[in-house]
Amino acid sequence: MKKVAVLTSGGDAPGMNASIRAVVRHGIYNGLEVYGVRHGYTGLMDGDFHKMELGSVGDIIHRGGTILRSARSEFFKTTAGQQKAIQSLKKAGIDGLIVIGGDGSFIGASKLTAQGFPTIGIPGTIDNDIAGTDYSIGFDTAINTVVEAIDKIRDTAYSHERICIIEVMGRQAGDIALWTGLCSGAESIIIPEVSYQLHDVLTRIKKGQERGKMHSIIVLAEGVCTGEELKKKLHEKLNLESRVVVLGLLQRGGTPTAYDRMMASRMGAKAIDLLIEGEKEVMVGWKDCQLIHLPFEKAAEEKHILNMSDYELARSLSI
Ligand code: ADP
Ligand code: F6P
Repeated sequence: MKKVAVLTSGGDAPGMNASIRAVVRHGIYNGLEVYGVRHGYTGLMDGDFHKMELGSVGDIIHRGGTILRSARSEFFKTTAGQQKAIQSLKKAGIDGLIVIGGDGSFIGASKLTAQGFPTIGIPGTIDNDIAGTDYSIGFDTAINTVVEAIDKIRDTAYSHERICIIEVMGRQAGDIALWTGLCSGAESIIIPEVSYQLHDVLTRIKKGQERGKMHSIIVLAEGVCTGEELKKKLHEKLNLESRVVVLGLLQRGGTPTAYDRMMASRMGAKAIDLLIEGEKEVMVGWKDCQLIHLPFEKAAEEKHILNMSDYELARSLSI
């Protein structure tokens, strides 16, 4: 293992830069040449490689986004796309690839390993929805951003005695909604993992009103429905008026928290160690407060599981 490449793929996440930094610095520290690939798998297929020096990753540990840029590529999903990527890697003399991204990116990475190219995955997505790891880089920053936003919305919801629906990201996972709902004291948390009843939302609003709390915060995961759809249902079925706030891409930006910088640094260095040790088709993970690695295949067989006891806790604390 002499030359390694690193790319970021899928939705960007705060902490990706800290992870790129760790890959580059730990790689050079261990005598490797490290190349950055711009624009994810698109750049990989196009041979968009750039040699990274120690200084290439200076002054980025605190920056959100990714200096390598990210992309989504439909062509890479085809065998022709993957073969093109492997040809580019071979032409540049690269011996191993590190992919920082979400579960979609890991499926792409596993396609490269299936064709014999050593690839290591680092979990990077605000959704925290990757099977095989308890944590993915960006989640902590995103939930802090959301909680800060909800705190502000609560001030105005209180003053105007309003019901506010906050739509948050997460694809089919409810982790962002659950953590931010619990941490902001939301009256209702609606997530894809638990089927919800409108009358339950109503009961919670009514109970609050009975003790003089006239405002209500509903945190809704995007995997259930849109905020506007929920607003319509509340109006049509329960005659309740509400306001919707879609936090959207705001959740993906911003300076990474210390926790994300730490996890990104640990995982970036671990990916380099794994390549040096001769691992070829694994993802880095975090389980029971330990860095682990497991084959892409095994991770794909597992399912990301939301912590239901936290959901029950949120319900008991928001009566
Ligand atoms: P994330 O990695 O954040 O989950 P995506 O699901 O958009 O983001 O995946 C990122 C990229 O990974 C896709 O644009 C595509 O290039 C690649 N990818 C996703 N699924 C596959 C697949 N089934 N086969 C090959 N590549 C894939
Ligand atoms: O996977 C990260 C994520 O931000 C999801 O939470 C969201 O559904 C998706 O990406 C949005 O992607 P984009 O707006 O970049 O298409």
